[in-house]
Parts: sequence; C-alpha cells; structure tokens
Amino acid sequence: MLLARLTVVFVVGSFSPALWAEDLRRPQELAWFNNANAQLEALTQRPADCVVPLHNPKFNLGRLAFNSPRLLGGQAGRMGLSCASCHPSGRDNSDFFIEQISDKPGRADISHHFLSSHGGDAFFNPKPIPDLADVDNLRFKNRGDIEFDQLLTRLIEIEFDGQAPTAAVFYGLKLYLTQNSIENCQLPFQPVSRTLESDWLLIDDGLAALDDAIKAGDSATILFVSASMRAVLERFYRFYSINPVKSLDDRLLDMSRALESLLSNTIKSDKTAEQILVTLAELSTSLGKLKNDLRQREAQSFYNPKTAYDYLNPSN
Ligand code: HEC
Repeated sequence: MLLARLTVVFVVGSFSPALWAEDLRRPQELAWFNNANAQLEALTQRPADCVVPLHNPKFNLGRLAFNSPRLLGGQAGRMGLSCASCHPSGRDNSDFFIEQISDKPGRADISHHFLSSHGGDAFFNPKPIPDLADVDNLRFKNRGDIEFDQLLTRLIEIEFDGQAPTAAVFYGLKLYLTQNSIENCQLPFQPVSRTLESDWLLIDDGLAALDDAIKAGDSATILFVSASMRAVLERFYRFYSINPVKSLDDRLLDMSRALESLLSNTIKSDKTAEQILVTLAELSTSLGKLKNDLRQREAQSFYNPKTAYDYLNPSN
C-alpha cells in the first residue's frame, strides 16, 4: 500500500505527460513555508545537527525513520511531511507554516483534524515547535521512560495517522532521539549548508538498516526501509528538476525500482538471506555511482543557493 502510493507519485506520474506537471518535480518542502526567503533557507540550509551518531544499524534506521514521510500516514504522509519537517536535524523549524495548522511561522497544531483523522480535534491551538536537542527545556526529558514511549506512539499513530511502526523502527527512533542534545554541539545555533552529501546520509542509513533487517529476516522493517529510501530518491528527483538530465532521471527511477524488487524478492521468493545480501551489495555499488553523478551536477540542483534563488524568484 505504501509502495503503491509512492509509485503513483514517482513512477507513473513521471511517465504521464499530463502529470508531468511542475508540482510533481517541485521540492515538497516548499509547501510548508509561506515566503520565498524561508523556502530558500529550507532548500539550502539546515540547523546544526547535535546528534552523536552510534555505530549501530538501529540508530541508522531511527535517523532514516525520523526523516521519512513513510512513518506518518494520512495528510501528513501525502504531503511528504516527516518528523524532520518540523524538527529538521532533530531541532526546531522557526519558519514552518501550513495555513490549516499554523497561526504564525514556527508554530503548529499537531492535534488538528487536518493531520489526524482519528485523534484530531476541531480546536485551533498551535504551539511552538520545540527544539528536540534543547533537552533541559523539553517536557519529556527522559527518553528512556514509558511516558516517552507513549508520546512517540501517540505522535505517530494518532496525531499523524501512521501505521504502528515495527519494533525495530520504534527502538531506532528512540536511539536517535536519545543521542540528540545541544550539549553535543559547539555552535548549536549556527545553521549549516544543506547539501547532496548531507541528504545522502539517509541512503547510507537505509543501506545499513536493510543489511540488518535482511539478516534478522524482518520483512516489515525491510518494507519500511525500502519505501523510505525511495522517498529519499524522490527528493533527489525533485531537487534535480530544474535542468533535468534524462539519463540521471532514468537512473533515479531504476534505483527506485531496484529497491522495490529487492523487497518483493525478500518477501515472495525462497531466496536465502545470503542471496539477498548479494543483491543488496550490487545495489549499494550502483547507488554509489549514482551519487557521484549527482555530485557532478550539484551546482544545477536546488542545493546550490543561486539555482534555488533563481527558481524561487523567476522574475529577477
Ligand atoms: C507539523 C509539525 C510537527 C511534526 C511533523 C512533528 N512534530 Fe514533534 N512537535 C511539534 C509541536 C508543535 C510540538 C509541541 C506540542 C505541544 O506543546 O503540545 C511537538 C512536540 C514533540 C515532542 C515533545 C517535546 C517535549 O517537550 O518533550 C517530541 C519528542 C516530538 N515532537 C517528536 C516528534 C517526532 C518523533 C515526530 C515524527 C513522528 C514529530 N515530532 C513530528 C511539531 C511537529
């Protein structure tokens, strides 16, 4: 079901001339800002990341999940929202604005029925988006206790209409959030550049998480990870839409399909974990080549502030 939804946007949409509309290639994050300056910053900058990474594939899974619109369901998932849309780099987003749930930039009503079909209320009471690294000022400081688990479950399944995450995804998200604290940052309030490299980290996270989930025979997590990685590829597809190169577009689509078939191989076939890991290694090599080619054209993508500026201010 998740895959079907992505396929419509990413595969069918791209081949249908009628749907080859700009919005299928427009970065989705532009929809949650109400002015071109904020949009430009969102494409080219991100808050300092105060998360100390762990050498643990569950941590990789958690970071990917936090950035994945596949964790959320309903309206949020359809728009491409993830936890990181409001909490980029695990921080806050002082420019976030969606008309239905915000009164001012940086504030959102996450229990509004716009986002939540079964938990939502009709009251409009936006709250400031908290900086999740500013642990001292959070309501839920202890990420190891049961109340934090309950909060996460409520956020994912009720506020954002998501399906119950797998045990591995849930555990990973907690690991990721536990590692997040401004104490880890030398310059916590200095934004850093958003680049192909920084977004590609999620592809590497996905590869580590897939390796782990294949070894564990955890097909529900494999499903989630491959759908989340396809969403990252879709993001590149949108970020490289301004001067598109057909061969690159085709490769992005091929990689997306390869991830999908890795999944069906795992679930339907009688292949052993060892055989699937061989396919994963091949996929990893092809992704590495794709990354190199994307890097060559990074200046023509929205990661380049000038390209992004020209796109957002067409009259200049
Ligand atoms: C639409 C914007 C938005 C999205 C998407 C979002 N959040 Fe938040 N988050 C908020 C706001 C606003 C609050 C404050 C709510 C309040 O005060 O009642 C919050 C609060 C939190 C808190 C509690 C902070 C504290 O004080 O202890 C955590 C943890 C959190 N979010 C994590 C997440 C995770 C994990 C996801 C993804 C599943 C997510 N958020 C998605 C806006 C968002």
